[in-house]
Amino acid sequence: MPRSLTENPRWYQTAVFYEVFIRGFFDSNGDGIGDLRGLIDKLDYLEWLGVDCLWLLPFYSSPMRDGGYDIGNYEEVDAAYGAREDLIKLVDEAHARGIRIIADLVMNHTSDQHIWFQESRSSGDNPKADWYIWRDDDSGWPEARIIFTDVEQSNWAWDSERQQYYWHRFYSHQPDLNYDNPEVVEAMLSIVKLWLDTGLDGFRLDAVPYLYQRDGTSGENLPETHAFLRRLRSEIDARYPGRVLLAEANQWPTDLVDYFGSSDECHMCFHFPLMPRMFMAVRREQRLPITEILAQTPELPDGCQWGLFLRNHDELTLEMVSDEDRDFMYAEYGADPRMKRHLGISRRLAPLVENSRPLAELLHAMLFSLPGSPVLYYGDELMMGDNVYLGDRDAVRTPMQWTPDRNGGFSRADFAQLYLPPLMDPVYGYQAVNVEAEYRDQGSFLHWVQKMLSVRRRHEVFGLGSIEILAVDNPSVLAFIRSYYPESSLAVKDSENFAGNLEGDDASQISTSLDFREDSKEGEERCVLCIFNLSRFAQPASLDLARFKERQVTELLGRVPFPDIQEGDYRITLGPHGFYWFSIT
Ligand code: GLC
Ligand code: CA
Repeated sequence: MPRSLTENPRWYQTAVFYEVFIRGFFDSNGDGIGDLRGLIDKLDYLEWLGVDCLWLLPFYSSPMRDGGYDIGNYEEVDAAYGAREDLIKLVDEAHARGIRIIADLVMNHTSDQHIWFQESRSSGDNPKADWYIWRDDDSGWPEARIIFTDVEQSNWAWDSERQQYYWHRFYSHQPDLNYDNPEVVEAMLSIVKLWLDTGLDGFRLDAVPYLYQRDGTSGENLPETHAFLRRLRSEIDARYPGRVLLAEANQWPTDLVDYFGSSDECHMCFHFPLMPRMFMAVRREQRLPITEILAQTPELPDGCQWGLFLRNHDELTLEMVSDEDRDFMYAEYGADPRMKRHLGISRRLAPLVENSRPLAELLHAMLFSLPGSPVLYYGDELMMGDNVYLGDRDAVRTPMQWTPDRNGGFSRADFAQLYLPPLMDPVYGYQAVNVEAEYRDQGSFLHWVQKMLSVRRRHEVFGLGSIEILAVDNPSVLAFIRSYYPESSLAVKDSENFAGNLEGDDASQISTSLDFREDSKEGEERCVLCIFNLSRFAQPASLDLARFKERQVTELLGRVPFPDIQEGDYRITLGPHGFYWFSIT
């Protein structure tokens, strides 16, 4: 029986997200480009994997000079991906499998091919003349940094038609919209509604800090931007309950939390500063980078959640690290100049960890247990590789590898017709790494991820619990306690539904977890101890667990009882890059 959607409006707090590049996922009509119908064909796989929500990269009509982040028409699905009806079908089919869908929404800028820009550039007095930001000279807002610093020299570009400069924060073919013009605000709000009417469950808000500019500022995180987000949120809450807004704001923790507002802006924000520090910590074999940034991370307002990630469709961004740490990251992870893109490293997870399975597991175990909702990037569940010889960020956007057949089972088109070549090298190529083979191999990384997600799903403490970092004598060991007092029986009810909906192996796994739930009485604290060895050698650790004296310790993956906590000092040994998740009851 299929999984059903939870009715909890705060579903995103315990959800696992999966980022899909439609272009690269599955090509249903053999034209060499992945499409919406192709994604529908693969929903059973995503359901099996155990993800709760898909995040679709932009599917709007686009000249595709920036992966679709250069929108040519907000109101249409790009013809290569399908049509609005296909999106509606996708949403329905996903919902029928208990999977939600959010879409990328690029509000900051359009393509220079967008009809609004074409009109705006045509004269100084047309109806859309002020929909973009035009000036006679290029000296305005010098404090605003250039984001794509490796390819753009200025945030102003000359337009020979209008004989003026226009403002752009990203590529010069992506002019910024003018949010000081109320017509632009209204146009964007109606686009939001147009797409929510398809049944979508929310949006990932692209490049959200840059909507407004003001003299003497960096043009980031301005009060006007927050006011706009509050307006957006209230319109959505009024008409579309249970939808989520996930902000892409590449900012420091104190600026980042402003995007939650007082629970009246975005429901979720990506935790950009945490991500590079997870990679730093494993390379330095020290927990400090992680514990430091968690200490600087403010508490979340009610009903909010972090989006945690290791990799995505962009470069591994190094904006939120010091110059010294950036040098370290480039030296350790991006030695070849071809790997450097914008301010970061354009590589996938598996090559970053030199294809080390224990390291990939360690990073994912942290991703799945730190406070927030994990966001996976398509193909990383296979330990797919990258192709640094491709331009821009295409290195990490090659076709999903489904089978060892032609084109990795991604498309029946001729190889030359594919939007990008699939990987064919001996280590990461589709003959070695693909869904079919990993699905058949119970010991594969794919099965490991699937099992981890099924364990995580049974313990809402991973989504809802607070975090307490433990002082451990060994600096290579990271340990924390997640704890949570269930408020009502809601959580238990959810899991019963879930168990009732499964058959075979999965159902027996769930029923053991129900036993666990029965152990802990209503209103009793749910506690999970997570402990990670960041070093490539075995490590001992001694934890002060005095406050849990006489409680029982059970390893979560195998439900294996470990020694009870006697006096305060709890000793544990971890294998190279090893980790444990323990329940404490
Ligand atoms: C966001 C997207 C990135 C895109 C940029 C400009 O950062 O993640 O892929 O290039 O916005 O739209
Ligand atoms: Ca196609």
